[in-house]
Amino acid sequence: MDDGQRADGTTTCQSLRVEPTARVDGRIRVPGDKSISHRVLMCGAIAEGTTRARGFLPGADCLATMAALRAMGVDIAQPDATTVYITGVGLHGLAAPSAPLDMGNSGTAMRLFAGLLSGQAFDSELVGDASLMQRPMERVATPLRAMGAEISTQAGRPPMRIRGGRTLTGIDYAMPMASAQVKSALLLAGLYANGPVYITEPAVTRDHTERMLAQFGCPTCRRDGRVGLVPGDRLTATRIDVPGDLSSAAFFLLAGSIAGAGEIVLENVGLNPTRTGILEIFRRMGADIQVTPATDAGAEPVGTIVIRPARLRGIRVPPELVPLAIDEFPLVFVAAALADGQTVIAGAGELRHKESDRIGVMAAGLRALGIDVEEHEDGATINGGRLSGGEIDSAGDHRVAMAFAIAAAAATGPVRIHDTANVATSFPDFVAQARSIGLRLEAMND
Ligand code: S3P
Repeated sequence: MDDGQRADGTTTCQSLRVEPTARVDGRIRVPGDKSISHRVLMCGAIAEGTTRARGFLPGADCLATMAALRAMGVDIAQPDATTVYITGVGLHGLAAPSAPLDMGNSGTAMRLFAGLLSGQAFDSELVGDASLMQRPMERVATPLRAMGAEISTQAGRPPMRIRGGRTLTGIDYAMPMASAQVKSALLLAGLYANGPVYITEPAVTRDHTERMLAQFGCPTCRRDGRVGLVPGDRLTATRIDVPGDLSSAAFFLLAGSIAGAGEIVLENVGLNPTRTGILEIFRRMGADIQVTPATDAGAEPVGTIVIRPARLRGIRVPPELVPLAIDEFPLVFVAAALADGQTVIAGAGELRHKESDRIGVMAAGLRALGIDVEEHEDGATINGGRLSGGEIDSAGDHRVAMAFAIAAAAATGPVRIHDTANVATSFPDFVAQARSIGLRLEAMND
């Protein structure tokens, strides 16, 4: 067995073996927010001046964004893993890349770059790993074309080929699905447009792009579910402290809830209200979660979360909470499997378009551990029960892998989770942090 330790102290693992654990205890500072880390790199790159970001997430997804920007001539220094200095080249200073830009596993990188690159003078091509090459891109290409961009996809999927030198116009666009990535792509393209961009969201989605653009001196406006951007002539470099990622903290919210004993304290966690749906869902299920907001928060609210064990009960998850907890649904599936009674998830069809088909993959994994799950097109009905030991295929999905790693603490026997290397896309330190609170995880390279 290889414990997967890398020179930088993080762990790569092809699979995880997890033993049941009754008690978890400790304080954790989860890594930086992935969404915000992508955005600070992109906005810093096209700003004027040098932007400093602390608390940056050095996960593979954000490193793909960093590499792409460097390939377009942006100087980015990383004196330590979580600090970056981005020397902005200005709105029109990016250089043509000499090869296709590889977005790795990251849908956020690909879709936001599609917007940013639509307004450039040069041609570009966006590619990714096997999972990303299967994900839908017309949702972003279609409205960008309506702004004048020239973009091709392959039957709706990557590669995306973007023709440079186009004049972009403003747009007034009603998004058919709730997607912060689509909204953000249009806002980034809007920086290059000759008129305002208005986007109507069918439901509120994460607003990190809006907050970040305001920090770079380019505020957006919001009225009645409609976001507007009037293009300015520049972004101005700034200093950003990236909060801890609530989507990473959420794994420990679940670990603390399903444990038999102990207490977990999560420090410096982002509490942006467009992201906190998971707190509401877990509370409705009976979780004991206490949140103390920090008083000196900047553009993004942060705070401390304390979580203690609680008996969870099944609920009907309110569909309006789905976009506010979209990345945490693997954990909602697990919480439901361990709760008393039945949980119904509906209105969550977007989960089928994530790093894996998260409805299908979670349902299959829970069934493999003895849980009764009925899958629907847009969700699932899960009857709470007892998790057995067993083998799980995470389908290369980081959040599925970590959700089952937490679930396994409450199983009746060891659980082996396969295809887990992509944990490094969002949470390179997951194994070490999980162990620090007492979870019995072993990373294996098989
Ligand atoms: C993200 C938006 C969400 C989320 C993803 C990150 C972002 O995707 O699932 O992990 O940073 O804008 P959608 O826009 O597809 O909902």
